[in-house]
Amino acid sequence: MTASAKGLDAATWAALVAQAAEVTERAAIAAHHLTGRGDEKAADQVAVDAMRTALNALDIQGRIVIGEGERDEAPMLFIGEEVGTGKGPAIDIALDPLEGTTLTAKAMANALAVVAFAPRGGLLHAPDTYMDKIAIGPGYPAGTVDLDNSPEDNVRALAKAKGVSPEDITVCVMDRPRHAELIAALRSVGAKVLLITDGDVAGVIHTAEPETGIDLYLGSGGAPEGVLAAAALKCVGGFFQGRLIFRNDDERERARRTGVTDFERKYALDELVSDQAIFVATGVTKGAMLDGVRVSGGQVSTHTVVMDSASKTVRRIHTVRPA
Ligand code: FBP
Repeated sequence: MTASAKGLDAATWAALVAQAAEVTERAAIAAHHLTGRGDEKAADQVAVDAMRTALNALDIQGRIVIGEGERDEAPMLFIGEEVGTGKGPAIDIALDPLEGTTLTAKAMANALAVVAFAPRGGLLHAPDTYMDKIAIGPGYPAGTVDLDNSPEDNVRALAKAKGVSPEDITVCVMDRPRHAELIAALRSVGAKVLLITDGDVAGVIHTAEPETGIDLYLGSGGAPEGVLAAAALKCVGGFFQGRLIFRNDDERERARRTGVTDFERKYALDELVSDQAIFVATGVTKGAMLDGVRVSGGQVSTHTVVMDSASKTVRRIHTVRPA
């Protein structure tokens, strides 16, 4: 394991890796109790409360850089909120206690509780705007795909690099009217388009999981989710680029407040996550990446993935505890 550029020693980092699962497990268990109740807000709130409690138990000087919103709109886990006991290392945190509020409210697959940690300054402070995203898994030559290339060119180039035809390329895209042109372009070149209703953090990560069959991720979604997904790819390898999208002056102003000066900038993975990182996700509902929370016989079971870019390890943890 390497020491951080910001001076974090390996043992301190390993201790954080070891404790990280508890943070998303607690949020996922809380959200599980509100699965299928049709109330997105309530499900999100209980996940936020539980994640905040778990974060405050960690021996870190934690600072939320991607959270539930700005201080005036989010009472808990707002951007800039300090969490942890204040005793340990200075850590920046990106989080989404419930990635897939609608999925949870409707008891649909693929809802997750997600958090990423990096030494102070290691994560882009992304504003709560949309981001245009492109991702592929590891093992391709640099420049194989690019956000500035057309969807058709990206599919052709990826197919060539993979040694297959465009018909063999599967692209994950969020099922949104704003993606109609993108989807048509992808299909025009022969690619298969796998549409998801929500949850693009998992959508991006799937490009690095060969068993999902997804080769490429394209389209716009939340910028905070973009940084979280980039943290995961930082750990497991892969390529990601993102560009913020601004629909109005209010969003530009939000971006300015987070320190963005170049509104056209195309961010590479290492600019979104510029230091070592830990990515952790626990399944709330059963999904392609993780099984969901299950309660039976007085016990609650969770499935969590903990990825660490420093040790390049991916741990899958099945935890059983009293309900
Ligand atoms: P929530 O958990 O906040 O509901 O977000 C889910 C999500 O699908 C994200 O994964 C994605 O980045 C974003 O919403 C897309 O936003 P929109 O629904 O506006 O297209």
